[in-house]
Amino acid sequence: MNSDADRHVQVIGIGAGDPAWLTLEAVRALEALDVAFVFQKGADDELAAARRALLPEGVREVVIEDPPRGRGAEAVAVWRAERVRLVREAVAASDGNAGFLAWGDPTLYDGLIGVLREAGFGVGVVPGISAVSALAARFGVALNRVAGAVLITTGRRLEAGWPSDADDVVVMLDAGLAFRAYPDAEIFWGAYLGTPDEMLLSGVVAEVGAEIERVRGAARLRKGWMFDTYLLRRASSA
Ligand SMILES: C[S@@+](CC[C@H](N)C(=O)[O-])C[C@H]1O[C@@H](n2cnc3c(N)ncnc32)[C@H](O)[C@@H]1O
Repeated sequence: MNSDADRHVQVIGIGAGDPAWLTLEAVRALEALDVAFVFQKGADDELAAARRALLPEGVREVVIEDPPRGRGAEAVAVWRAERVRLVREAVAASDGNAGFLAWGDPTLYDGLIGVLREAGFGVGVVPGISAVSALAARFGVALNRVAGAVLITTGRRLEAGWPSDADDVVVMLDAGLAFRAYPDAEIFWGAYLGTPDEMLLSGVVAEVGAEIERVRGAARLRKGWMFDTYLLRRASSA
């Protein structure tokens, strides 16, 4: 068994939904694994199952039960510390080429790289197709306008106001429909991108906002969870 200090762990981006979004590099990295760790939230975690489905035969799977996460900065810090502990123990107890499968791209709103480093491991990263790239591709739009800036942010941050310095904003992790505060903006909204449940709606918020709210609410109720991302575009201030 290796010592923690020289143990190198792969974080492999698997794309944000469609297995066809696996890159060749990701396929090769998956095939080279001896053991794959999968964070799981309860037995019916669809995202964990989707990761599992991508594991080549012969790769040993180790499930790590994701600890419960409370609200607020302190609770998140406790949750993160617990994840570091669980990862340290699970990886240290395994042998061979170890990896984690990261949803979308590991470098975007995914704490795994930081958790692994904090746990004392070296990290190799394989990029993946993020929900952001998938969204833009589905609508056939570019994220930025000519020489413009794009900001990727969270629903909570958008609730605090439109960010300065960007007229084009991509919003993730939004449980509160923050776009409703911007009726004049154009929205490109996608949920469960790349999966059989994919939903796409676009238009001016004042015209399509209520419909997004309706279908989003119904889908969330039916599936028990929601993953959506949107590009919000206001009239150019340039
Ligand atoms: C923890 S972040 C993970 C992001 C991921 N690393 C990526 O590159 O897309 C989860 C958020 O990503 C977005 N997301 C991930 N997969 C998605 C999908 N298939 N469709 C729409 N949004 C998705 C949602 O905003 C969701 O709340």
